[in-house]
Amino acid sequence: MCGIVGYVGKRNILEVLISGIKHLEYRGYDSSGIAVLKNNKIFRHRVVGKVFQMESSLPKEFFSNLKTTESVYVGIAHTRWATHGKPSEENAHPHVDCNENFVIVHNGIIENFLELKLKLKNHKFSSETDTEVIIHLIEENYNGSLLEAIKQTIKLLEGSYAFVLISRYQPQKLFFARKDSPLVIGVAEKENFIASDVTAMLKYTNKFLFLENYDYGEISFCEIKIFNLKSENVQHRNINVINWNSQMVEKSGFKHFMLKEIYEQPQVLRENISSRVFGEKIIFNEEIKFKDQMLKKIDKILLIGCGTSYHTAVVCKYFFEHILRVSIEVDIASEFRYRDLILKKNTLAIFISQSGETADTLASLRIVKENKIPTLGVCNVIGSSLYREADSCIYIKCGPEIGVASTKAFTGQLICLYLFGLYIAKIKQTISSNRYLEILNYLYKTPTYIEHILSDTSYIKQLAEKFYTKRDFLYLARGINYPIALEGSLKLKEISYIHAEGYPAGEMKHGPIALIDKDMPVVIIATKGSLLQKVFSNLEEVKSRDAKVIALTNYGIESKSIDYKIVLPETDELVSPIINVVPLQLLAYYIADILGCEIDQPRNLAKSVTVE
Ligand code: F6R
Repeated sequence: MCGIVGYVGKRNILEVLISGIKHLEYRGYDSSGIAVLKNNKIFRHRVVGKVFQMESSLPKEFFSNLKTTESVYVGIAHTRWATHGKPSEENAHPHVDCNENFVIVHNGIIENFLELKLKLKNHKFSSETDTEVIIHLIEENYNGSLLEAIKQTIKLLEGSYAFVLISRYQPQKLFFARKDSPLVIGVAEKENFIASDVTAMLKYTNKFLFLENYDYGEISFCEIKIFNLKSENVQHRNINVINWNSQMVEKSGFKHFMLKEIYEQPQVLRENISSRVFGEKIIFNEEIKFKDQMLKKIDKILLIGCGTSYHTAVVCKYFFEHILRVSIEVDIASEFRYRDLILKKNTLAIFISQSGETADTLASLRIVKENKIPTLGVCNVIGSSLYREADSCIYIKCGPEIGVASTKAFTGQLICLYLFGLYIAKIKQTISSNRYLEILNYLYKTPTYIEHILSDTSYIKQLAEKFYTKRDFLYLARGINYPIALEGSLKLKEISYIHAEGYPAGEMKHGPIALIDKDMPVVIIATKGSLLQKVFSNLEEVKSRDAKVIALTNYGIESKSIDYKIVLPETDELVSPIINVVPLQLLAYYIADILGCEIDQPRNLAKSVTVE
C-alpha cells in the first residue's frame, strides 16, 4: 500500500514528483524517496519519514542542471507503507540493481520473493524488501531490450505489483507493469505521467488511461505503448476524462482533509440524488446493466466490504430487508473470501469499496464471479479494479477522499445504495407507492439536515474538550443504527487512538457492561424509531453503572439518565443512519484534534489497503 509516481517531460521534475507523492501520502507514509536521471546517471534520495522530510533534505546535486526547459527529464518517486522490512533508509524505495543501471518504485507484495532471491545468488541485495528482487530480475533478464526483460520478469512474479522504472539504457522513457495493484497513466501534451492514483496527476491533466492486470509497457514524452502478457499485440486502452480538479485535492482552508470531507457531505448527497432522481423516478442509466427481469427474480443479496464500507453493508442489510423482503447476508471481505460459500442462483452480490482497490474485497468479487453470480460494485474511483471488474458499478460521486478516515464516502455509499434499494423495490413491487415516496422525500432532506448539524458544531467541540482524556468509549445503538455505533467507534479509535467499542445495545449485558464505571463515556443513539423504548431501557442499565451518557436524540426526547444531549433533526428511522453518523464523525475529529493527532494520516493506517 504505497504510492508511486513517474514523470517524463520538460517540467521541473522535482516539483512534479514531489507534488505527486504528497497527494499519495494517504496510501502510506513510513518513508519516501525519489530518483531522477541526469547526465546518464541515477540520482537517488531516500528518507525514513514523510515526503516533506525527503523534500527538505534533497541533496544539492538534485537541483543542479534542472532548470532548463529544453531537456526531457524522467523520474520516479515513492511513499511507503512498510510490508516487507521495517521503515528504514535501506528499505525505502526507489531500489537499484547491482550496477545502478535500473531504478524502480513498487506497490504490492511479491509473494515468492524469497524463492526468487535464492535464484539470484550472484546479485548484491541491500534491503529486506520484496521489491528489490524485481529490479535484480530485470538486471538478470536484460539483453538489450528493457521491455523484454520486464516481460520475462513479470512471468516469474507471484502476488501483486504496480511498478515503474527508469534506466540509464533508455534515459527518456518510463517503463511499467501492473497486476492487482493500481496504476494509471496521466496523458498530456508532450509530457506523460504515471501514478497509483489520479489525485497525484490532477494538477496537470484530467485524461487518464487505467492499466489492466498483466499490462506492461513504456512511456515517452510523446508516446505510450501498452502490451499485455496474455497477448502479444499493442493494447488499446480508452482515455477517460475525469471531472475532478486539482482544487478537490487541496484542503481549501480546512485544517484537515477529514474536516473538509465531513463538510462536503451535503454536496455529495445532493450530487448523487440530483443525478439519479427525476421527479418520483430513480434512474441509473448505464451504471446498472442488469435487466429488470433479472432484478425481479433476485431472492438473496450479499453485501461485502471492509472497515467503513462494511458498516455501509450492515446499514443496508436492515434497509434492504425492510424494503425488498429478500434474504440479506453481509460479510467482511477478508472473512467472506475464505468461507465455504453456498452461492445459489438469483443472488446479487454487492461489493462496496471507496477506493475500488481493497485486496480482500476484490478477491471476494472474483470468487463470486467465478460462481457466475451477478456482481454490483459501489465505488468512488472510476477506472479502479472494482469499477472495471464488477458486472455493473455505481459511482458514488464523492470527489477524491484524501483523509484516511472515511467520511463522505460512507454517506455517499449509503445514499447510492438506498436509491438502488428503492429502485429494485419498485421493480419487485415490494414497496407501496406511499412508502417509496416517503423515503425518497426524507432522502431529499438529508443534505439540509446535515447542513443544519454542520452549521453549529460548538456543542460537539465542548464534548470533545470534556472527554478527550478518556481512554475507553462505548458506542451503543440498536437496529439500523447499530452499524452507526460501529462506525462512530471506528472513527474515534482510528484517528485518536482511544479505545472504543461499538455494540448492539441489547447485547451489552452479555459482557461489555462489566466495563462500565463512572469514567466510561457511553455514546448512545436514541433517535426516534421503533426500538427507542428498548434503547431507553439499555440507557438506564448503563446509567445505573454510573456511566457518563452522551445521547444522540431528537427534539422532545427526554430522560434524566442522559448527561449530554446532541439534538439532531428528526427523520425516518430508515434514513436516520445517514444523519446520525455526522455528529459521531465530528466528535472523533475534535477529540483527535485536541489530542494533536495526525488526523489525515493516522499511524499504521493507509487509505487504500491493496494487500491482503
Ligand atoms: C475507516 C476506513 C477504512 C476503509 C477500509 C475499506 O475510516 O477508511 O476502514 O473503509 O479500508 O476501504 P475501501 O472502502 O476503499 O475498500
